[in-house]
Amino acid sequence: MSAIYITTPIYYPNAPPHIGHAYTTVFADVIARYNRLMGRKVFFMTGNDEHGLKIQRVAEKEGIPPKDFVDKMAGVYRQYWQALNISYDYFIRTTDSYHEKVVSESFKRLYENGLIYKAKYAGWYCVDCERYYSPGEYIVVEDKPYCPIHNKPLEWLEEETYYFKLSEFKDYIVKLLSETNIVYPESYAREVLNRVQAEGLKDVSVARPRDRVSWGIPVPFDPEYTIYVWFDALLNYVSGIGYLTDESRFNEYWPNVNHVIGKDILWFHTVVWFSLLKALDIPPPRRVIVHSFLINKGLKIGKSAGNVIPIEFLVERYNGSDGARYVLMKLFNLDKDVEVTVDLMDSIYNSELADTYGNLVRRVGVLALKKVRGKVYRRDVDKKIEESITSLLNKYVEDMEALEVSKALSEAQELGKVLNTYVNEVKPWERPDPSKELYSLLEGIRALSIMLSPVTPRASSIISENFGFTLTSPVEFRVGQIERYNIVDAPVLFKKVQAGREKTGGQENPPGG
Ligand code: MSP
Repeated sequence: MSAIYITTPIYYPNAPPHIGHAYTTVFADVIARYNRLMGRKVFFMTGNDEHGLKIQRVAEKEGIPPKDFVDKMAGVYRQYWQALNISYDYFIRTTDSYHEKVVSESFKRLYENGLIYKAKYAGWYCVDCERYYSPGEYIVVEDKPYCPIHNKPLEWLEEETYYFKLSEFKDYIVKLLSETNIVYPESYAREVLNRVQAEGLKDVSVARPRDRVSWGIPVPFDPEYTIYVWFDALLNYVSGIGYLTDESRFNEYWPNVNHVIGKDILWFHTVVWFSLLKALDIPPPRRVIVHSFLINKGLKIGKSAGNVIPIEFLVERYNGSDGARYVLMKLFNLDKDVEVTVDLMDSIYNSELADTYGNLVRRVGVLALKKVRGKVYRRDVDKKIEESITSLLNKYVEDMEALEVSKALSEAQELGKVLNTYVNEVKPWERPDPSKELYSLLEGIRALSIMLSPVTPRASSIISENFGFTLTSPVEFRVGQIERYNIVDAPVLFKKVQAGREKTGGQENPPGG
């Protein structure tokens, strides 16, 4: 069985992660957990992108060496991912020495193969972005070129640099983007393809003079230069699974990789990454999964827009990691930007987790304890319930395979509603022995807990432990499999939040933020 390799972008640790980074990481985690639930072997990797001027500057501002700064931030990121119950198998850091060797060696190989060459760069540059802008990419204000992001004048820059021959890969990129389904959803592939066809591909600078950028990996044969941070960062995806260090491990995972990214870094993860891999004679990844932005009042949530919602706010407000993960995944969308408000998250949490799932398991658990001392033996399952379980489980698997997590959660909701309606209809509390009704309900709860488990792993395992069943693969689920349920407790899983209290829309200070 071939293993599935899942990655998140490696994040710039200039500041702690916020709800936007959590959006990507939780989604990747849900895909990883779902695949494990299906019995597949998974290797899930996240990590930090620790070099470059951005980091160099924050460290300077804090008055500590950059390495100390990134060491501290690696701990901070790990804590956040723990608070969100992220089940990564490996946390990569680009300052790890084996990674630095892989980057250095790859740079050398490309140079020796004539794919990297030295030449002068002359053009416009944004110091805040730390990137070059060619005509058409910048805006013009009073006849002067301006950075479209920072709205500041660009600087004219002339320096010797090293170029990577991106232009050589145009046909390869066009073929990959137009003939395969490597980018998902496909609309993003078309977007890149249009740009490549309209503008062509120009060689890109992959180094900076050391006196301008010192915090990074030196060019191995010319230490007066630092390797460009994106060249360094992209290679994490191969160095992290043993490229050039552990060939058998590398071959076990590559190329069956799913890169999860936000649409802001689409160009780097398609045109630049695919070309770099081709240049190194490595096959392309199986798939790049692209999602849209979480926005607030129309703007992408981020540090520069100042509309950040802190992760600790979500975790505190929604009863820990499960609630935070659930609201993020219910909002999740690959194609469209999603406007997020606390009201919206409150209503998702209250109605779907507290009222539907939480209330159902509490009611059924308490009834089973009261009526039959927690022991519920196998009976014929109500036909309507059985049909709902089977059809919704099937739909759930279809949705998850298509990465439609939010839709999959709606199937789970549907089952929760069917079960709640059934409780109200059959009124088990009025029956002397409601074993048949309870068994049907418990089979439903078991299916529902399995469906929710990639998103709310903690709640699912609490219920499976307290009710006495195991969380099997959804495709191995058979109605009537369980001989006897043994309920030992009926915990309240999700306390409702009081709408209107302690709110943040990024404007007010949230608790802990
Ligand atoms: N270090 C680079 C990535 C290198 S990967 C080889 C980088 N880092 S980042 O810290 O800026 O993270 C960018 C990613 O964070 C986005 O691609 C996206 O996955 C996530 N998001 C950050 N803000 C987001 C939103 N407001 N909405 C959705 N995703 C967001 O770029």
